[in-house]
Amino acid sequence: MIEEKGIFDRETSLVKMNTDEFAVEAVNDCRSRRIRVVDYQACDIGALANYIEILGSKSQAGKIIVYSHRNDWQKFLSLGYRLEGVMNTYFRGDPVYLISRFLCSDRFGSEHLVNEDLILKRILQRKRSCVGADKSSNCKNYSIRILKDDDINTVMDIFRDVFVTYPSPVEERRYFEELTGREGNIMLIAEYKSEIAGIISADIDNRHLSAELTDCVTLPEHRGRGVMAMLIDHLEQKLAQRKLICLYSLTRAGIPPINAVMYKKGYTYGGRLINNCDIGGRYENMNIWEKSIK
Ligand SMILES: CC(C)(COP(=O)(O)OP(=O)(O)OC[C@H]1O[C@@H](n2cnc3c(N)ncnc32)[C@H](O)[C@@H]1OP(=O)(O)O)[C@@H](O)C(=O)NCCC(=O)NCCS
Repeated sequence: MIEEKGIFDRETSLVKMNTDEFAVEAVNDCRSRRIRVVDYQACDIGALANYIEILGSKSQAGKIIVYSHRNDWQKFLSLGYRLEGVMNTYFRGDPVYLISRFLCSDRFGSEHLVNEDLILKRILQRKRSCVGADKSSNCKNYSIRILKDDDINTVMDIFRDVFVTYPSPVEERRYFEELTGREGNIMLIAEYKSEIAGIISADIDNRHLSAELTDCVTLPEHRGRGVMAMLIDHLEQKLAQRKLICLYSLTRAGIPPINAVMYKKGYTYGGRLINNCDIGGRYENMNIWEKSIK
């Protein structure tokens, strides 16, 4: 038996375990009190589920999320897991089934679901091609570039101002240093008259050939002008050179503009992760949006 722990930041660690019954890689995320099982192989799903559950209760997690494969996601259902979403091309072009087990009752229920369904319905009712006005005339005032070291203090201030809480360690400079394009992951900045107007980043998973579009912020005075749409376009162009198959984003289900912009940019809705992470001061439900780029 081998157990290894790698630390991402003060509150997140990577746990690896190999036994005769399974091999697993899980992220223990104390910030959002969740365990994310990001990779596994198992001849005995029950043994794997037992191990994850022990991990979850040791770290007082409220939720376990397994990135599960086509052939065994259903085996998890009788072990207390629920299917929350599907991305069709996440595992090198094969589907991932996002199945979750809730370890405490306050994490399971959500009073926001009905309102979030309404937001989604209104967005999906629009024809993609007809969504919104042409904002290209607004956008000519903005330029897009990769994050530089000199931007980091300002970007840290922006995240502190916009989000009361955030699931990634945006209070740590190191988080942004890894997004300057030197180590694979990228953060792009939209600039208006030399001031930062918008931010997006890509968290690239080369093993599975997928990338998460994340850290999406437009500063309040620049919202509704197509800045996020423009950032997504530029990021997609950069990612096209990386031989990826799946782009996806997990968006706050209660915030209409971020869901509208994902839909507008051709992403397909793939489900909702309940009380998934601590963002904006509480656990929020996150919508799954996916686009295949193979
Ligand atoms: C979400 C956010 C990034 C959007 O940025 P933005 O630059 O204003 O986005 P865009 O202008 O490119 O697109 C927004 C779209 O939402 C639409 N929209 C705005 N309010 C809407 C509503 N109530 N219902 C439906 N659509 C809405 C806009 O009309 C626009 O679509 P259009 O171009 O087709 O008209 C910005 O509002 C923000 O930073 N919010 C706070 C941080 C946050 O929560 N980030 C998301 C993390 S998942």
